[in-house]
Amino acid sequence: MTEHQPTPAVRMIGIVKRFPGVVANDHVDFEALPGEVHSLLGENGAGKSTLMNILSGLYTPDEGEIYLFGRPVVLRSPRDAITHGIGMVHQHFMLVEMHTVAENMVLGLNKPRFILNLREIEREVEQLSAQYGLHVDPRARIWQLSVGEQQRVEILKMLYRGARILILDEPTAVLTPQEVDDLFATLRKMTTEGKTIIFISHKLEEVMAISDRITVLRGGKVVATVRKAETSPAELAKMMVGREVLFRVEKEEREPGEVVLEVSGLCANNDKGLPALKNVSFTIREGEILGVAGVAGNGQRELAEVLTGLRKATAGTVTVLECDVTNCSPRKIIGEKVGHVPEDRLGMGLVPNLPVSDNVIMKTYKERPISAGPFLNGGAIGRFARRLVEQFNIATPSVQTPVRLLSGGNLQKTLLAREISISPRLMIAMHPTRGLDVGATEAVRRLLLEQRKQGAALLLISEDLDELLELADRILVLYEGEVQGIVPAKDADVGAIGLMMAGVKPGAPAATETERRPA
Ligand SMILES: Nc1ncnc2c1ncn2[C@@H]1O[C@H](COP(=O)(O)OP(=O)(O)O)[C@@H](O)[C@H]1O
Ligand SMILES: [Mg+2]
Repeated sequence: MTEHQPTPAVRMIGIVKRFPGVVANDHVDFEALPGEVHSLLGENGAGKSTLMNILSGLYTPDEGEIYLFGRPVVLRSPRDAITHGIGMVHQHFMLVEMHTVAENMVLGLNKPRFILNLREIEREVEQLSAQYGLHVDPRARIWQLSVGEQQRVEILKMLYRGARILILDEPTAVLTPQEVDDLFATLRKMTTEGKTIIFISHKLEEVMAISDRITVLRGGKVVATVRKAETSPAELAKMMVGREVLFRVEKEEREPGEVVLEVSGLCANNDKGLPALKNVSFTIREGEILGVAGVAGNGQRELAEVLTGLRKATAGTVTVLECDVTNCSPRKIIGEKVGHVPEDRLGMGLVPNLPVSDNVIMKTYKERPISAGPFLNGGAIGRFARRLVEQFNIATPSVQTPVRLLSGGNLQKTLLAREISISPRLMIAMHPTRGLDVGATEAVRRLLLEQRKQGAALLLISEDLDELLELADRILVLYEGEVQGIVPAKDADVGAIGLMMAGVKPGAPAATETERRPA
């Protein structure tokens, strides 16, 4: 570091935070300067959110000290933190849905003036919006806004409250590529004014794009703090994971075979009884991966549920290998060799309190040698489970271990092991790598490609456009329950897909920001 380094905006020294059974932060030292974007990079569970929840006053550290602009502080609550100029935008927003944008600026501040001065607040919000390019209507109610807009409101709220240090926890997960670009422009604007941005992410490309410096956390400890200009994605990945990582999984050229899944004119409602899928049609062939892109909440979940028998279609048909399975039970659909990797691994996917062995036989327990007449064959179950554990490289103390004790990556491998063990002709996978670390992500992607190689048809629903571009043969974009377009993944134009994700049909003239946003 140079001699003329300014006083750090944030200095955290020797931070320790323990949760039952885990040291989430283990003597962490962290500092961020005024005017820098400092990323906190690490795999899931590395301790990033915990560290920043401490800085934003949500958690109290067990040990350690915090200095802001050179002065020691004790942060007892988020309100405490904001009076010190620290604002955090959480992964799950904390806005009040029924209130307007302007009202949300002051809710919880205990300032009676807000009723009186709402017009004044609206003007201030408009001014901040313009200053930072955070476009949002101050009079809109939160529930009327898209997720991207809600995030802008969260950021505005922190700015309104005088944040000089802004923490964003995995902010891009809910954004389209264009919204990510806009967010990054806003963050850069803030740093030119001397604000400090702490950007939490596990995505290397993003971190390389936005950061001045990067602190890598692994297993609750700091691995290193590096300058962006002096590092590379490969080095960062190695620090994150603790070993070399291969980035690209090899996808073989493959001619798709016969049609496995045919979806025609499919309609379905969401949990509120409103249309979630509108006249959706597509096919997937043997040895083909169809990726489904879209911002969360545009019908992806309902599509996966209808295809696996968990939700009723209100119109249209679903045909698997020429067998009409529209509105059939999940068991009947599994019988057609349809594998399912659900969004919610623990809960819908696996039974948390049952051992690995019972979890992996759930779809094969009626078959020999696992079942012998009315009884299950304990020895055969154990052998079957041990074979899968070995084959899929599942890190578990034994096959008797309840799955709830496994890490996210090993849960996902367990689930995939079970689904693949039925030799699926069609596999429906929803966010199969979400929240997984780099190593587990790589393993899961390889398994999916292996299924493609074996001739399975795969429907891959993902919010990670890079993942879709890497794995899929074609990409279908869902927007508000409608197919916006289906494009080949090879040589796909990310910008064009991003526009489709924002509701612009391909070929339509480029819309302005306001036109693009849903009413
Ligand atoms: N409120 C909590 N209660 C218990 N354990 C927690 C809590 N918050 C985080 N942890 C644990 O602390 C570790 C670090 O978690 P977290 O800070 O959320 O990681 P990251 O944000 O890097 O994914 C994990 O093992 C997680 O399970
Ligand atoms: Mg986190």
